[in-house]
Amino acid sequence: MQHAGSHEELVDHTLHVGKHPNHDEAHRLKMRLENVSFWYGAKQALEDITLDIFNQEVTAFIGPSGCGKTTLLRCLNRTNEVITQTRMQGSILLDGEDINHRSIDPPFLRRRFGWVAQKPNPFPRSIYYNIAYGARLHGLVSRRAETDDLVQNCLEQAGLWDEVKDRLHENATGLSGGQQQRLCVARAISAQPEVLLMDEPGSALDPVSTAHLEELIDSLRENYCIIIITHNMQQAARISQRSVFFHLGKLVEEGNTEDIFVRPQTRLCHDYITGCFG
Ligand SMILES: Nc1ncnc2c1ncn2[C@@H]1O[C@H](COP(=O)(O)OP(=O)(O)O)[C@@H](O)[C@H]1O
Ligand SMILES: [Mg+2]
Repeated sequence: MQHAGSHEELVDHTLHVGKHPNHDEAHRLKMRLENVSFWYGAKQALEDITLDIFNQEVTAFIGPSGCGKTTLLRCLNRTNEVITQTRMQGSILLDGEDINHRSIDPPFLRRRFGWVAQKPNPFPRSIYYNIAYGARLHGLVSRRAETDDLVQNCLEQAGLWDEVKDRLHENATGLSGGQQQRLCVARAISAQPEVLLMDEPGSALDPVSTAHLEELIDSLRENYCIIIITHNMQQAARISQRSVFFHLGKLVEEGNTEDIFVRPQTRLCHDYITGCFG
């Protein structure tokens, strides 16, 4: 599967891993999930998930729709609990601390996470406002010069500065879809989070914008722990170091991306990544 020997194999869904398709032992553990189960009312959406997630790495969550990927992502920053009649079991540790412990203040916890949604969703305000808003709200910046610096820094990190520096006060909705999504990434990092959660961030973008977004994610990896949900197997293979395959609320297989994509251990995972079902 990793060595396409003929033209036929090349056109037949051959997946290519990126330059860094493996976990690096130098990267420290950021989150540990122990036996996490989750229910919406009587319906169980996650069953006994145990998983380690590392800093400075991209972890890809893959699996068919409805298998619980978004639910798990929302358990990590405790945004699920605002939905009534939900229940979680098990524990989730962030830097070794239980995020559901009584002493944890949920709004404070949520600030340690940035979220990038499926559809670019900038505020219908200026590009500048999109970045400055959260940082001002949280008191990270106050003076104008400080805010200017932050806006520039976030836009630079998101690879958008050169494209927008002359139009910072124009409405963000005037940007292209790909630019809007990079703006949303810049906004997600403006409150200085530690973990970036991305729920199918490229699914509404054209291939060129998607490639741009992938480069951006790879460059952010240095400074963040990143978890990305994607239905694009090429993308998961290219940009992640670790991959996790879910099916019907269960974790079926996880490991180095190279192993998952080149030597999947289960039939289910093999069939999913080669496009046999999904
Ligand atoms: N707010 C909700 N209320 C009830 N059930 C939900 C809710 N959100 C998701 N579910 C159910 O939980 C399961 C997992 O959904 P989800 O986490 O969105 O999966 P994925 O992101 O992998 O597509 C699905 O069966 C879905 O219908
Ligand atoms: Mg989802």
